[in-house]
Amino acid sequence: MVYQVYPRSFRDASGDGVGDLAGVLERLDYLSETLGIDAIWLSPFYPSPMADFGYDVADYTDVDPLFGDLADFDALVAAAHARGLKIIVDYVPSHTSDRHAWFRASRSSRDNPYHDWYVWRDPQPDGSPPNNWAATFGGSAWEWDATTGQFYLHSYLPEQADLNWRNPAVRGAMFDVLRFWLDRGVDGFRMDALGRIMKDPLLTDNPPNPRPAGDFHKEMGDYDRQLHINDQRHEDIHAVLREMRHVLDAYEARDGQARIAIGEIHIYDLSELGRYYGGNHGGALDELHLPFNFGLLKTAWSARAIRAHVDAYEAALPSGAWPNYVLGNHDEARIASRVGPDGARLAMLLLLTLRGTPTLYYGDELALEDVPVPPERAQDPWGLRVPGLNLGRDPERAPMPWANIPNAGFCPPDVQPWLPITPDLARANVASQLDDPASMLTLTRRLLSLRRGSPALARGSYRSVDWPGVSDDCYLFLREAGDERLLVALNHSDPPQPIPLPDGLRARPILSTHLDRNGTGPLTELALRPSEGLILHLDGDS
Ligand code: NOJ
Repeated sequence: MVYQVYPRSFRDASGDGVGDLAGVLERLDYLSETLGIDAIWLSPFYPSPMADFGYDVADYTDVDPLFGDLADFDALVAAAHARGLKIIVDYVPSHTSDRHAWFRASRSSRDNPYHDWYVWRDPQPDGSPPNNWAATFGGSAWEWDATTGQFYLHSYLPEQADLNWRNPAVRGAMFDVLRFWLDRGVDGFRMDALGRIMKDPLLTDNPPNPRPAGDFHKEMGDYDRQLHINDQRHEDIHAVLREMRHVLDAYEARDGQARIAIGEIHIYDLSELGRYYGGNHGGALDELHLPFNFGLLKTAWSARAIRAHVDAYEAALPSGAWPNYVLGNHDEARIASRVGPDGARLAMLLLLTLRGTPTLYYGDELALEDVPVPPERAQDPWGLRVPGLNLGRDPERAPMPWANIPNAGFCPPDVQPWLPITPDLARANVASQLDDPASMLTLTRRLLSLRRGSPALARGSYRSVDWPGVSDDCYLFLREAGDERLLVALNHSDPPQPIPLPDGLRARPILSTHLDRNGTGPLTELALRPSEGLILHLDGDS
């Protein structure tokens, strides 16, 4: 169970309107005692000009003063470990800030030993960029540099220059970055934009996309006009991932504690996604422990579509691979805004009962919605550079609301937080929801505690079921381990739905999204209310 903290927005202990590591430390009891999560993933806190809010790293082995210093980081790791919480840090291998010492040296001249640490190419004879690759955040992926008379590659902003992972010195230096944080006690990494580390070495043009308005989960403008098959995920990536895994496994070999590799890799072809676990040479799973599964982000919010995704994903996983699911992060509209307040409860029950590791985005436990950001306070470079498509990611990055007080207890009342506080503060705040036995926070806590105490939910098998008489607006699946047999039943429709139980089966409700079925005895007839999700204990044969 991974909980994502976006440090800028979690808790501001220093009082400057931006969250920091000391703020995360202050809230560890909330994360470990109140919620009961297993691991915290911290988005980047490294020195950075913040062109992409920390995903433009200027020094991989330090802490930006905005967030504190290395002593704050060490204190956070120690305090987390004392509570049994794991710390996962963000690792941004594909690009550095243009202010990183490596890039400054690289661009100083073509003869500098660091020149080849980045991807440089001469212009075409007519002066145009070396190929047609488009940057995710708009425009060409090539930036002209007058000093060297060459273009450099940037898959995102021009301020984020792509490292040349084909250079062994870059690989060595970036593996040393992993060791630096492992030596400081981290339990693993969430690896950013991983597909970008290996491109076609010949830099072949991307072909046009025949379906530019196709089935993406969000429209990205001109970027969608080409198929991004040459600017990322070259086959050579698998060898590099095995090398990375080797670095992590060496630490596990010393003390028996696994160090996790979670990869941000946007693949919606499930068998292709499965290849990122490794085992591609017939051996053990030797690449990522968890290639992020973003499938639910682009699945229609219906019982049929969700079931189809989960069943296909389960079937496509290589033998022994551990599944994972993501419903929100700092790049996506919040789940409560995507599916509404009732849907958000159903989504939380789904996320925390499917087989595998769920990643929970801070604030989703409150059903926090996207926060409207007036244009004059917009920060995200994506939204600013590619206007008109609603690509700005500020709304999902708004401060964590801790209490219904000025500035939500995120920062002092007389300081402007870096992004606005939710207008829904009276409902969406930790303190009020803690006191409310029917709140989303109460539901999340109950689900987490149930999951922790249930072998079937924590590690059991998964099987979707088709029972006669059940509408396909309902998604039913079994989680089983030893004698424990649980049924998860989700009604995605507005009308109530009868769930006729097969003969010989009795069901005892354990937890409903409506939080009001506690203590009901065994049922032989079951009906789900509108948008109700229910976990039931099954007895009998069927
Ligand atoms: C993916 C990160 O999640 C996103 O926030 C960032 O802008 C890009 N990678 C570039 O690092």
